[in-house]
This record gives sequence, structure tokens and C-alpha cells, in this order.
Amino acid sequence: MEFRDQVALVTGGAAGIGAAVAAALADQGARVAALDVDTDGSERLASQAAPGRIVGFPVDVRDAAAVEAVVNAWSRTSARSECWSASPACCGWGR
Ligand SMILES: NC(=O)c1ccc[n+]([C@@H]2O[C@H](COP(=O)([O-])OP(=O)(O)OC[C@H]3O[C@@H](n4cnc5c(N)ncnc54)[C@H](O)[C@@H]3O)[C@@H](O)[C@H]2O)c1
Repeated sequence: MEFRDQVALVTGGAAGIGAAVAAALADQGARVAALDVDTDGSERLASQAAPGRIVGFPVDVRDAAAVEAVVNAWSRTSARSECWSASPACCGWGR
């Protein structure tokens, strides 16, 4: 549980590398926002994780305002903010 109580944001989180990163972070205790245009894939991934551990957001990462909105909302859900990013694009915050 290395990432317990931390929040993470993974772009392209519905499939492939992003989904693997999201699942690994969730397994380690993080709560993960998975941003992807594939909402079905995000929901499928979320359903396989512990309840609330992965939440899918239907976001095209080319839409900077939409990504920023999720970052702002998600970072407020924890006192500890960390970010890991994945394909197809990257964004991050942390301390
Ligand atoms: N898989 C590999 O071995 C490998 C190796 C080197 C580089 N890459 C690169 O890494 C990236 C990801 O690879 P992958 O195998 O995980 O791909 P993938 O197709 O399995 O997963 C990519 C995910 O990104 C999502 N996505 C695509 N465009 C998006 C957008 N604009 N906004 C939000 N989500 C979007 C897709 O819906 C999908 O869920 C690719 O750019 C690939 O070229 C992959």
C-alpha cells in the first residue's frame, strides 16, 4: 500500500499502458482518475478495482480545460496529491 491515501491521474487510462498503470496504482492504495475518450473501457477498468479506487472521466486529453478541471477536482479529494501520468499524453502535479 505504498500509495495509500494518495491521488493519481492517468491519461489514456482505459487501455494498454495507461490501464496497467491505473490498476497498479490502485492496487497500491492510490485513488486513480482515469482520463480517456473510451468511456466503456474506463468503466470496465473501474469495475475491476476496489469500489471508488478508480474513477473514469470521459476526457479528450487534447482539451486542456477539461483536463485541468479534472486535475483540480481530483486533487481536492486528498490532502496528499501526487500524479503519475501515462499515454497518450502527460500532465502532472505533485509535491
Ligand atoms: N504498447 C507499447 O509497447 C508501446 C511502446 C512504445 C510506445 N507506445 C506508445 O504509448 C502510447 C500508448 O500505448 P498503448 O499500447 O497503451 O495504447 P492503447 O491504444 O492500448 O491505449 C491508449 C489509450 O489512450 C486512449 N486515448 C487515445 N487518444 C486519447 C485522447 N485524445 N484523449 C484521451 N484518451 C485517449 C485510448 O482510448 C486508449 O484507451 C501510444 O502512443 C504508443 O504508441 C506503446
